[in-house]
Amino acid sequence: MRLDIVTLFPAVCEGPLGASIIGRARERELVDLRLVDLRQYTHDRHRTVDEPPYGGGAGMVLKPEPLFEAMQDVAPPGAWRVLLTPQGVPFRQACARRLAALRHLVLVCGHYEGVDERARQALFDEELSIGDYVLTNGALAAAVVADAVIRLLPGVLGCEESSEDESFGRNGWLEYPQYTRPAEMQGMRVPEVLLSGDHEAIRAWRRQRSLARTAARRPGLIQGWDGDQ
Ligand code: ADE
Repeated sequence: MRLDIVTLFPAVCEGPLGASIIGRARERELVDLRLVDLRQYTHDRHRTVDEPPYGGGAGMVLKPEPLFEAMQDVAPPGAWRVLLTPQGVPFRQACARRLAALRHLVLVCGHYEGVDERARQALFDEELSIGDYVLTNGALAAAVVADAVIRLLPGVLGCEESSEDESFGRNGWLEYPQYTRPAEMQGMRVPEVLLSGDHEAIRAWRRQRSLARTAARRPGLIQGWDGDQ
């Protein structure tokens, strides 16, 4: 997959996407990740990317011209173009799976108080939010989406890190509790069933715990209304 991130702060993305599993995936060329500095598409002396809003009000709005120019450069026809913004549709695991199937994904980070509406309407196939809170800019949000997508690409996770059994995996529920050695820690014992070697009983226990945890924390996932999109 080719993945472009268009941002005013490439360095913010480089950190989280340069290490560990994602860093190795890039080294192994399982993903062609490009961090694109939006400011390179400005032409005035001050490299202006934002202006006050027409009609007045607080804050600054991202100008349309650098965005149009950047997209002309990095998003040929066929590329899927996503704007990160708190006003977007909530990003979920099902969305990560859908994006991971694309050949070319372009993530664009919003900034300041907003993005000129003409650019929003003309340039993007969808708008995504990573949650109901406001970050200083979309670079961290793009890094989150990129991480969730890249780890699903073929060959990125070994089978010991498989993405099948995790939270929001096959049934969309939260993952069951996990334990590792030692079997006893400060008087707390690992549930006996996990030491029993009875795979059928372990499967049933995990399913029950997964359901109980999901019911307690995210009941909507069981009814199916906040899981998929
Ligand atoms: N930019 C600022 N906050 C954001 C959020 N929650 N999701 C996506 N982009 C953002």
